Amino acid sequence: MKDIITLGIESSCDETSVAVIKNGREVLSNIIDTQIKIHEKFGGVVPEIASRNHIEAISRVTKMALEEAKITFDNIDAVTPTYGPGLVGALLVGLSYAKGLSYAINKPLVGVNHIEGHIAANYITYKDLKPPFLCMMTSGGNTQIVYVKDYCKFEVLGKTRDDAIGEAFDKVARVIGLGYPGGPKVDKLALNGKPTIELPKVHTDNLDFSFSGIKTAVINLHHKNPDINKEDLCRSFEETVTEMLMGKVKKAIEQTGIKTIALAGGVSANCFIRKEFSELEKTGIKVYMPDLKLCTDNAAMIGAAGYYRFLNGDISDLSLNAVPNLKLGE
Ligand code: KG4
Repeated sequence: MKDIITLGIESSCDETSVAVIKNGREVLSNIIDTQIKIHEKFGGVVPEIASRNHIEAISRVTKMALEEAKITFDNIDAVTPTYGPGLVGALLVGLSYAKGLSYAINKPLVGVNHIEGHIAANYITYKDLKPPFLCMMTSGGNTQIVYVKDYCKFEVLGKTRDDAIGEAFDKVARVIGLGYPGGPKVDKLALNGKPTIELPKVHTDNLDFSFSGIKTAVINLHHKNPDINKEDLCRSFEETVTEMLMGKVKKAIEQTGIKTIALAGGVSANCFIRKEFSELEKTGIKVYMPDLKLCTDNAAMIGAAGYYRFLNGDISDLSLNAVPNLKLGE
């Protein structure tokens, strides 16, 4: 069978990334131009600045991706950009570039849901992984347990009612003075801390999450006692949110009887969450976790998800618009 090459394009937040993917699983190139340094001084992503930097980077990053993969536009079978969810201005840069490119080189355009991309990061790391499986999706904008019925068929079993887990990590980090992006910094401090501080856990009857309570509790604790041991606070926060995640993951496994689960999204780079997730293996559950470099935003995962959408015949037309609050399964 002829190889299928997808050109993944990602610009939903503060990473401009372009990747060349073979048959949905093999990364020929994955260039990531991150704006972290630019947004760091503001303590978070400034949408307008993100859009401007995507504009500046997109052509250069695409050229680098083609060069590294040693291909030309002629070799591409489909142009597959993220069209949501994300920051609307940022999304529009990658999507408009992709639409122009698709028209100019006369290759199909396939819009990709960013969340599907995170899930597909697992297909790159594990060549044998096939649906059905459960996926614990943990990122800066989303926290949901997804039943991946097929490559392009998803059911959300539970989701956060307020903050995403990554958002909670970032806000905790900001208030205790660690800066942006907070997740990796909290993770690092937590390594030397002890889980000595009791924090509230929200219990819901179903598979939904809530992280705003614990986030506010950490913020209040720090305001009342600015000298609180930050390492212990980070460790206590990390262990408590992990416990909340694992509780729901186990419930989802029990309810569905599905014994294969994947992790996905930026927060799946967290050491403690990865460790607790691997523990599930001891109970006969098959666990998949993407390579660390594929956990946070990148275009390889978008090219992988785009490949399966392309096979599914989901060709977009040039009227495709950015959808900032795009849901899975839409
Ligand atoms: O998936 P991602 O790159 O962007 C979205 O699609 O939202 O996720 C970014 C989030 C940020 O909130 C960041 O703080 C968090 O992932 N993150 C982590 C770690 N690495 C990144 N959170 C906890 N521990 C980490 N090691």
